[in-house]
Amino acid sequence: MSPINGGIAPEVLGLPPNPIRGIEPIIAQRRQRGDIVHTLHIGNRTEDVDPCAAGALAHAFFRGELATLPYVQSAGTPEMRAAASQYFKGMYRPEEIVVTAGSSEAMLYYTMISQAPGEANIVFAPGYPNYFTYAQATGRRVASINRNPDNGFRYPNPADLHRRLDLMQEQGESPVSMTIIAPDNPTGVVPTEAELLGLLQVARERGMWVFGDLAYNHLTKSGGKTMDQILREHPEFLDNTVLTASVSKEFRGCGARLGWIASKSPQFVNYFTQLAAARGSVNTISQRMFAQAIGQDLEVVHNDYEANIVPRARAVIDTLNDLTGGGVRVVEPEGGIYCWVDLKGLGVEDAAQFTGFMAQKFGEKGEDGKLHTVTVAPGSGFYSAQDPDAPRTWARVALTEEPQELIRDMGLLVKGAQAFTNS
Ligand SMILES: Cc1ncc(COP(=O)(O)O)c(C=O)c1O
Repeated sequence: MSPINGGIAPEVLGLPPNPIRGIEPIIAQRRQRGDIVHTLHIGNRTEDVDPCAAGALAHAFFRGELATLPYVQSAGTPEMRAAASQYFKGMYRPEEIVVTAGSSEAMLYYTMISQAPGEANIVFAPGYPNYFTYAQATGRRVASINRNPDNGFRYPNPADLHRRLDLMQEQGESPVSMTIIAPDNPTGVVPTEAELLGLLQVARERGMWVFGDLAYNHLTKSGGKTMDQILREHPEFLDNTVLTASVSKEFRGCGARLGWIASKSPQFVNYFTQLAAARGSVNTISQRMFAQAIGQDLEVVHNDYEANIVPRARAVIDTLNDLTGGGVRVVEPEGGIYCWVDLKGLGVEDAAQFTGFMAQKFGEKGEDGKLHTVTVAPGSGFYSAQDPDAPRTWARVALTEEPQELIRDMGLLVKGAQAFTNS
């Protein structure tokens, strides 16, 4: 084989391992050996897909509508864009919406459009790892503002945020954009109306873009205000804001790879559509399947959260408390599908090493005679890899199993920590 001339771009060479997917080859090996791995490291929705979406798919097959599978419009089918407009209660017209292959694609194109190479996006860390990955891989930067565990990972107030941004400016960093994840992954914090308006105000005063990541938008208790609702009541903040939403979590359709962005900036939508045109179109079947679902009464998502996710969070928190006499700090989630846990109370000083140990080495014999373990995501991956101050003891537990299973899994986690600290 002749040697290649090119090599690998340094931006990609320097990428840290993915904190969520990185351990999956090890999990596959464990399973091949016959061990049982309970996977709480990834926020997969493994329950039945939204019934409305399942019905639409069955209907389409029955009527023979999927006998051909053409590309559809790059910006999304008219039905999907109209439904996404309905999802936002008409705040955005269909022409102000572009359908994406999940929110992940949305954040990549957003990064490329809103920041030039070398420019930075603010992430209130801990934050979803893709923001760090895409920034680094495209030569953009993340300017992290680490939130404080001691005040429940709340957001900075406007005066504090201005101070932080002034300080960054003195050090030669002028962020042009800010990401707000609401509800948050991994902490489960839902920014209050006052917090959100403060962040939006600062962004507007400084001429920054805001990327509102609504992957878990209605996965909260009923009655609270969502970010899009707050924007509807404060349209003065719409001009510089881009929203993304997705069927993955709210409609239990992770594998559909379907989301959308909305923006009031015709220029932004235009350039976003141009990037979208380069990949042809988003999955035709998924759009056919979910157009009705995302336009439905979204109380159904709040109900899913209250009926299913809340009892799971309770099971995780109560079990860890019971097993450790209250020694483990867990952020009480207000939304989303995770618990953010400080493993220090289990004696773990390095969560990344511990999660590797759980995936690779730990096993507790179950009643079935097989070795069982549990996987969680190490918290360091939710901070910038270049941040020497990033906490090392936190981890994210996905609430993707039923309460009884999570109780068993938390038992495994505590036993695993004992074995790890003794090893
Ligand atoms: C905050 C956040 N944004 C975006 C995504 C990506 O979602 P999608 O499946 O739509 O690409 C996730 C997935 O976990 C997420 O947690």
